[in-house]
Amino acid sequence: MVRIDAFESALARSFRRLVPSDAPPRLRAAVRHAVFPGGARVRPRLVLAVAQACGATPEDAMPAAIAIELLHCASLVHDDLPCFDDAQLRRGRPTVHARFGEPIAVLCGDGLIVAAFDELAHGFAGRDMLGRAVSLLAAAAGAGAGLVAGQAWEEEPQPVLDRYHRAKTGVLFEAAAALGALAAGAEPRPWRPLGSAFGEGFQIADDILDRTASEFELGKPVGQDVSHARPSAVDELGLERARARLDAIRSRALVLLPPCPGRDELHSWLAQLMSGLFARALVRTPDRMDASLSA
Ligand code: IPE
Ligand code: IPE
Ligand code: MG
Ligand code: MG
Repeated sequence: MVRIDAFESALARSFRRLVPSDAPPRLRAAVRHAVFPGGARVRPRLVLAVAQACGATPEDAMPAAIAIELLHCASLVHDDLPCFDDAQLRRGRPTVHARFGEPIAVLCGDGLIVAAFDELAHGFAGRDMLGRAVSLLAAAAGAGAGLVAGQAWEEEPQPVLDRYHRAKTGVLFEAAAALGALAAGAEPRPWRPLGSAFGEGFQIADDILDRTASEFELGKPVGQDVSHARPSAVDELGLERARARLDAIRSRALVLLPPCPGRDELHSWLAQLMSGLFARALVRTPDRMDASLSA
């Protein structure tokens, strides 16, 4: 349903415009490293699929898909910094601060956040929904309930898990679904619950994998939630109940699909996408913490 090669080409074109060749060379190299090669590109896929189901062409929605991915990449660069998760590995390669140093990594994340808004302003110039799209992205990024808030909840003594998960992950999925609809000229509000459920499931799967998968499989450090004392679905529910919740969310997300011209196709695409993404977390692999306790 979604042609990810077209997205990659558009993203490469945007990179050249947003971070031109006369930008500071180390910063430019760091931004390139943060964005290419990407991970699963889940959020831009969601933008493009929802837009298409609502009747838009991929070109109509491309600026939103790119903006969402740039913001996501920014969040990863900042999340990996020594002052947060202090991670050395991301997508199977050194993190941006491990490769380019901390000052460049901070600026790289900052630059990517600004670039996300530049992409929307440039790509949606002259279209009616530009203002609404910018507000939507700002809320997903921001200090109220967006990515900045998600990172900041970790600095509070007792964050509520749902609120923390929603801010650090769910809200960007919500914005992806909403922006897809908006790019097609549809009302974005009915799409939020679907995005929110998908994002909640995505973070629960990440929490499970943090405890059950290997660094090699994930291409990033594991055991992070325990070592940094982060709230986690596995800590709150235990591994089995976390899996049960993930399975329930996968079904619930599909029920939340709003009516739209391409609903049937979107339904099967999403079912397949979520099954693939959540499969590894739903397999009954043991908790590494239990294994290390009994060793
Ligand atoms: C990682 O997101 C951060 C979480 C919300 C768990 P992804 O797993 O989508 O990261 P990439 O872009 O594919 O590397
Ligand atoms: C996920 O945070 C969300 C963001 C990076 C904003 P995590 O710290 O749980 O994600 P990973 O495991 O490093 O990808
Ligand atoms: Mg983190
Ligand atoms: Mg992290």
